[in-house]
Amino acid sequence: MSAGRSSPFAGRRVAITGASGSLGRELLRAFHSCGASLVALTTSSEPLQLMSASGDPIPLEQRSWRCGQEAELSELLSHIDILVINHGINAHADRSAAALERSLEVNALSSIRLLELFASAAQDPNGSVKPGPGEPPRREVWINSSEAEILPAVSPLYEISKRLLGQLISLRAFDLAGPKLRIRRLVLGPFRSNLNPIGVMGAAFVAQAVLRLAAWDWGLIIVTPNPLTYVLMPLVALIRWIYMGLFSRPGHQSPA
Ligand SMILES: NC(=O)c1ccc[n+]([C@@H]2O[C@H](COP(=O)([O-])OP(=O)(O)OC[C@H]3O[C@@H](n4cnc5c(N)ncnc54)[C@H](OP(=O)(O)O)[C@@H]3O)[C@@H](O)[C@H]2O)c1
Repeated sequence: MSAGRSSPFAGRRVAITGASGSLGRELLRAFHSCGASLVALTTSSEPLQLMSASGDPIPLEQRSWRCGQEAELSELLSHIDILVINHGINAHADRSAAALERSLEVNALSSIRLLELFASAAQDPNGSVKPGPGEPPRREVWINSSEAEILPAVSPLYEISKRLLGQLISLRAFDLAGPKLRIRRLVLGPFRSNLNPIGVMGAAFVAQAVLRLAAWDWGLIIVTPNPLTYVLMPLVALIRWIYMGLFSRPGHQSPA
């Protein structure tokens, strides 16, 4: 990813969950090389220290969080331009009730809660007006699901929880995405990490490809060696959009 002030991410404040994981670290490095300022959201108590390609320490603010306690991030999120929801777990072959609960909570429900929180932080009480010339670009949330959303990943609970995440994003995007908030999806193929030690791609390659495609203004960011995903994912997204658009309504806001 080319460095510098020409990047659309230069000067933007970016927060990333799952920051100490393989992709989290590489996304932080890639955003740093674009000139973004960084907030690492992590469940780890270890200080996160990252070096740039030139060997200099990367300046970042580190903030702890826990699934179920997303609301504690409200204040922080109101000062973030781009939130990357990247955390995730893989229960592999485990199909126990505990694994089911954890997978749904971590992979789907906490991500959706963060999306809702960030969306409400992005809303301007004065109404939804497109940013004019000179106004800051709209805020963005990038949500990392997986091609496991639509294809087998030899991990049934992982597939189920990522599919749920993808479907909930499609459903809520009708009401949350707009002039104030852009939702981008990351649909990634297998890369090497704690979660998937035998992935074929490297996390650094994936992070750089994600930022390159985002800089090209893509909203559905697919990075995978599997050609089927490039065909199926847009089709699935389109079918969901038609179906959910036909059979769902915004509903009523409950009074504050
Ligand atoms: N690896 C692949 O093949 C692949 C393919 C497609 C998509 N993905 C997705 O990419 C994302 C990053 O995964 P990765 O491959 O980089 O795996 P990773 O190295 O295991 O990173 C995942 C990170 O998620 C955070 N996390 C773990 N348990 C958590 C919990 N209970 N609550 C909140 N956060 C938790 C941890 O970061 P902190 O300690 O900093 O909180 C962890 O390091 C995941 O959403 C994954 O599903 C991975």
